[in-house]
Amino acid sequence: MSKRFENRIIMVTGASSGLGRAIAQQLGAEGADVIALGRVEEALEVTRNRIEEVGGRCLCIPFDLTGFDNYGKLFLALKDQVPHLDGLVHCAGSLKRCAPMQYVKPKTFTGALDIHLTAPNLLTQIMFPLLTRAESASVIFTTCDMITEDQANWHGYGLAKRALGYAAAMWQAEHPSTPMRFNTINPGRMRTRSFERAYPGLNPATVPVAADIAPAFLHILSDESKDIRGQLLQASDLLPKTPNDVQ
Ligand SMILES: NC(=O)c1ccc[n+]([C@@H]2O[C@H](COP(=O)([O-])OP(=O)(O)OC[C@H]3O[C@@H](n4cnc5c(N)ncnc54)[C@H](OP(=O)(O)O)[C@@H]3O)[C@@H](O)[C@H]2O)c1
Repeated sequence: MSKRFENRIIMVTGASSGLGRAIAQQLGAEGADVIALGRVEEALEVTRNRIEEVGGRCLCIPFDLTGFDNYGKLFLALKDQVPHLDGLVHCAGSLKRCAPMQYVKPKTFTGALDIHLTAPNLLTQIMFPLLTRAESASVIFTTCDMITEDQANWHGYGLAKRALGYAAAMWQAEHPSTPMRFNTINPGRMRTRSFERAYPGLNPATVPVAADIAPAFLHILSDESKDIRGQLLQASDLLPKTPNDVQ
């Protein structure tokens, strides 16, 4: 297997489940040192074991990304042991229930904005000094179909995910002449815990597993995509084509 990420240090949020875990695992297999963030320590340990099984290294950090007052402490804990941060993938997400905006409680609404919009931006901000120490760091925001589709009932989640399309462009516009790059990727629907919560009536077997989508994120983290900057991307456009696609 190729080792595109040897000597690279990459932080993945939401690494204790679903897409984040799949990305972390595949990065580990390709030689990256992974910094895995999530809240549930036991679930992070599962990610670490899977990374170590494929020969990679993983530092697990149990951390609630909505605890913004703790971001400074997180940075202080890492700044001396992490020489550079070559990638930051924002995968953490949590959608409890779809509902019309008219009925959504203020706490539910602001909670959705906190984890899906405020957290990825503030984490990028606090990790910025480590990202600038890398040769050409890649930051990825994860959005969803609401980035282009005007669907009902996604309240703070849908609003935050649509705003993330602008986040990548805004960060890039503020750093036009550095090699650092910022992109937003829509993974599309995947067979994960979040999918089962959001679409209880849909058969999960009809959508791909996260491991099939993760290679799109690895492509944007790798040197192969150095010229892709400030873009809104669809994972399906970044994945290798199968013979069926070409027909
Ligand atoms: N699945 C889909 O169909 C789909 C479609 C489009 C976009 N997405 C997006 O893809 C991303 C990954 O979702 P997924 O489907 O892989 O979901 P998932 O399996 O439920 O994983 C979500 C992850 O986010 C973490 N997380 C949630 N709240 C957190 C908090 N406050 N602090 C720290 N970590 C937190 C969870 O960690 P703990 O469990 O340890 O708290 C978990 O690792 C999300 O941004 C989601 O919006 C998913």
